[in-house]
Amino acid sequence: METVLVLGATSDIGIAIAKKFASEKYNIQLAARKPELLGPLQSDIQIRYNVECSVYAFDALIFHSHSMFFETLSPKPETTICIFGTMDDEEDAFNNWSLTQRMIDTNYTGAVSILNIAARSYLKNKKGTIIGISSVAGDRGRASKMIYGSSKAAFNAYLAGLRNKCFKDNVHVMTVKPGFVYTRMTENMELPALLTSTPAYLADVVYNGFARKKNVIYIKWFWRYIMLIIKSIPEFQFKKMKL
Ligand SMILES: NC(=O)c1ccc[n+]([C@@H]2O[C@H](COP(=O)([O-])OP(=O)(O)OC[C@H]3O[C@@H](n4cnc5c(N)ncnc54)[C@H](OP(=O)(O)O)[C@@H]3O)[C@@H](O)[C@H]2O)c1
Repeated sequence: METVLVLGATSDIGIAIAKKFASEKYNIQLAARKPELLGPLQSDIQIRYNVECSVYAFDALIFHSHSMFFETLSPKPETTICIFGTMDDEEDAFNNWSLTQRMIDTNYTGAVSILNIAARSYLKNKKGTIIGISSVAGDRGRASKMIYGSSKAAFNAYLAGLRNKCFKDNVHVMTVKPGFVYTRMTENMELPALLTSTPAYLADVVYNGFARKKNVIYIKWFWRYIMLIIKSIPEFQFKKMKL
């Protein structure tokens, strides 16, 4: 039975993805910066799906700990899913460097740090899958998501490069671009129901994309076309818009 590593397992999306892969008979490794919160999810997965489930401490911002963290994993996961992320209020972040830096360092630097390590291990074995949960916010820079969106844009470019680098060695990289999802991250936002998915729906789509070795998936699917339209607006017009 293969093993899936879930980085950011306390997130609503992480919980749903861990359960979906467990339901498909994958053993699960849950990793989060507050591993003490993962006991109930671990038991639930073990009992409900009858697979192995272990818990690890992982902090995306403690870059120097990432090598040791990956070395400690036993067994080595065949699939690594990078889910952690942070989204602060953009105006607060614009006025406070520590918030800006935390968003960039979590969403981009931390993700690159741990995924470089996983990718090196997969390249050596000529087998493995990396999945990155990014965002449609990375598809075009907008005032309302300037810092968060740019951190996700950088993550998108990294995942595309990694996919290109790893393809010939049988290592697959999938980029996931959700639109809106009902989670702790968006609980104070009013979300348009038609454009918003649940973590369980997202997990199903991620699993199907993984099984079909997709490269880039949008959730929901029509976000691909919404972003195509947004990307096609000429810059001289786009800069005057409030988006
Ligand atoms: N919700 C949406 O509409 C939406 C849309 C597009 C993309 N996304 C992306 O989906 C991913 C999951 O987010 P979510 O919506 O499920 O929100 P969430 O429930 O707030 O999850 C955020 C997760 O990131 C973890 N995290 C933050 N900083 C960390 C660090 N330094 N080290 C390790 N873990 C850290 C949090 O851990 P703690 O529990 O310890 O805080 C939490 O598990 C994020 O990458 C987000 O950008 C979400």
